[in-house]
Amino acid sequence: MGRVQISPSILSADFAHLARDIEQVSDTADWVHVDVMDGHFVPNLTLGLPVVASILAASRLPVDCHLMIDDPDRWAPGYAEAGAKSVTFHVEAAAAPVRLARGLRRLGARAGMALKPATPVEPYLDLLPELDMLLVMSVEPGFGGQAFLDVVLPKIRRARQAIGDLDIWLQVDGGVAMDTVERCAEAGADVLVAGSAVYGAADPAAAVTALREAAQRAAGGADERSARSGCRLE
Ligand code: DX5
Ligand code: ZN
Repeated sequence: MGRVQISPSILSADFAHLARDIEQVSDTADWVHVDVMDGHFVPNLTLGLPVVASILAASRLPVDCHLMIDDPDRWAPGYAEAGAKSVTFHVEAAAAPVRLARGLRRLGARAGMALKPATPVEPYLDLLPELDMLLVMSVEPGFGGQAFLDVVLPKIRRARQAIGDLDIWLQVDGGVAMDTVERCAEAGADVLVAGSAVYGAADPAAAVTALREAAQRAAGGADERSARSGCRLE
């Protein structure tokens, strides 16, 4: 596994000072993770395309849009058109995930597909070549600050195994913090979203660096173990 990336979620930032809070992590983070919630797919409402467009204009970091919305087939392409470099839709909400992923790529975005904690990965393995990123949720989507669900770790491992040599990132989102980040990276995650662990810290930039270092160490350890045993992430 290569370099671990960190995508701080602005769900835990100050919505009245988004540009300032994104700037705080811009030297240490890889992406800014923007959680779009519609009050239907999840029981929370955050922001939509006009705010994302303003974030795109104000941010030095590429935008990683996580769409927790109904009917992403209709709405997701607009985020790619606006300039988000990564657009992730939930497979539970998508009517035609292959068509949607292809459309996002055609618009120049990385296509991401997200799974809620209880959604298995196996039915979707044939779709992997259509994707640039698979997002495994480690909390029920909707709110920041929830406890990490260990129950998803076997799914992360199975997803990493299925990805094999394909050039697909494996993102984990929800409850990622200093006490859980190693488990995620060991299981095979290479893009980690963290909201409260970054914006709840006294120094958000340093929190990003600390998370990446811990994850990178854990990923390295897992790689070594799998090389020694002659198989991947056993
Ligand atoms: C939850 C969102 C997450 C959230 C993570 O539905 O998708 O991105 O911001 O927040 P923490 O890291 O606090 O669990
Ligand atoms: Zn998210």
